[in-house]
Amino acid sequence: MYIDTHAHLFDKQYELDLDEVILRAKQNKVDEIIIPATDISTTEQAIKIAEKYEGVFVACGIHPHETKAWDSSIIMELENLAKHPKVIAIGEIGLDYHYDFSPKEIQIKAFQEQLELALTLDLPVIVHNRESDADMKEIITKYSALGLKAQFHCFNGSLEDAQYYISLNHIVSFTGNITFKKFDFLRDIAKQIPLNKIMIETDSPYMSPIPHRGKRNEPAYLSLVAETLAQLHSVSVEEIAEITSANAREFFSLRNINKPILVYPLGEALYINVTNRCNADCVFCSRKGDAVINGFSLRMNKSQELPALDYIKEIGDPKKYSEVVFCGYGEPTIRWSVVKEIAEYVKASGGKTRLNTNGHGNVINKFDITEEFNGRIDVVSISLNSTDKEQYSKLMKLPEAYFEEMINFVKVAKMKNVEVVLSVVDYPEINIKLAERFARNVLGVSFRLRSYF
Ligand code: NI
Repeated sequence: MYIDTHAHLFDKQYELDLDEVILRAKQNKVDEIIIPATDISTTEQAIKIAEKYEGVFVACGIHPHETKAWDSSIIMELENLAKHPKVIAIGEIGLDYHYDFSPKEIQIKAFQEQLELALTLDLPVIVHNRESDADMKEIITKYSALGLKAQFHCFNGSLEDAQYYISLNHIVSFTGNITFKKFDFLRDIAKQIPLNKIMIETDSPYMSPIPHRGKRNEPAYLSLVAETLAQLHSVSVEEIAEITSANAREFFSLRNINKPILVYPLGEALYINVTNRCNADCVFCSRKGDAVINGFSLRMNKSQELPALDYIKEIGDPKKYSEVVFCGYGEPTIRWSVVKEIAEYVKASGGKTRLNTNGHGNVINKFDITEEFNGRIDVVSISLNSTDKEQYSKLMKLPEAYFEEMINFVKVAKMKNVEVVLSVVDYPEINIKLAERFARNVLGVSFRLRSYF
């Protein structure tokens, strides 16, 4: 329900009970947490935490307090750390003239170089601003023109400043201080900011909301910030959760991280990830491993499988691709009715289709699906795997009878108006020459070698 967009969970105060802190967050409906680092070492710590817990992400950056020893080579270190898939922003960065732990000129240089890094990497930034409004406005204005997306974390400026940043498409973010007794001015500002421009955060371990003020803060207390905001805007907390989470998902592109990949380009073709389920369990398949192709994770639970319309939306114009391939780490004919519907759309829109299958689709669906190929499937690529049924059975961990089933599938498909290709993976134990001869001479179809990773 909630997303805590700012919690420094690497802080020493969580050293002993981080497991429980994360558990309490989940129990209090905080589904995602973003950990903004403050320097290189805390970025590394934050990444370790994010690797351990689901729904925890990282912003990497150098906090203004830590910029004293700024050296432009730090940018390269940050750029490297930002390659981690759980790093989703640059932060927390900015200016702090209240404490002035680092000289102003150095703070500005570090801030600007990190903003440039964010633009290069196309990442949003998490901004810390304290008593530096004039310089902050000038710098943000300059970079906004280049496409910068900023979250003004723990906002405590003026209404005019908030409105100005919103006009540049940035987001303001409120923390536990909107619950504090003497903070009517901040509640008054929060009330006037449209909900689609607001994110919420705890800023743990600081800024504990009432009634925890003065004690260690933690993500589980985020609902107290949401409750205050709900009262100010006269809406339910559920609505605050829904809107602020949607804002955060959009801002940090979290949607793309949690949603399984439906379609992915590879070469000139577009591949369709229909399912991760398979009736076989091939020794050379990483379906149950990380299932990554070209940096796209194709992992997909059954509950994440979507109807044809969602695929069609993502395909767009199929003529942009050499072909649309039903593939992925699973057997697409398990979802034959969905494949059929997508294929109909692709053909009607002038595209070409290919079905990559293990040839067990007729057993799986309990009828001859090749009867439905006409007008839907242009090419069917069937995994031969081996010409020897004993080896076939061992490689796929299936009974030997499936070898005959696959051969029959080739034969019935051949009689339809489709191009039939037999493929093998160049796996060390497989006799490729024999497989090619078998495909071309015995069955009279084309042959393709697939590379084994
Ligand atoms: Ni912070």
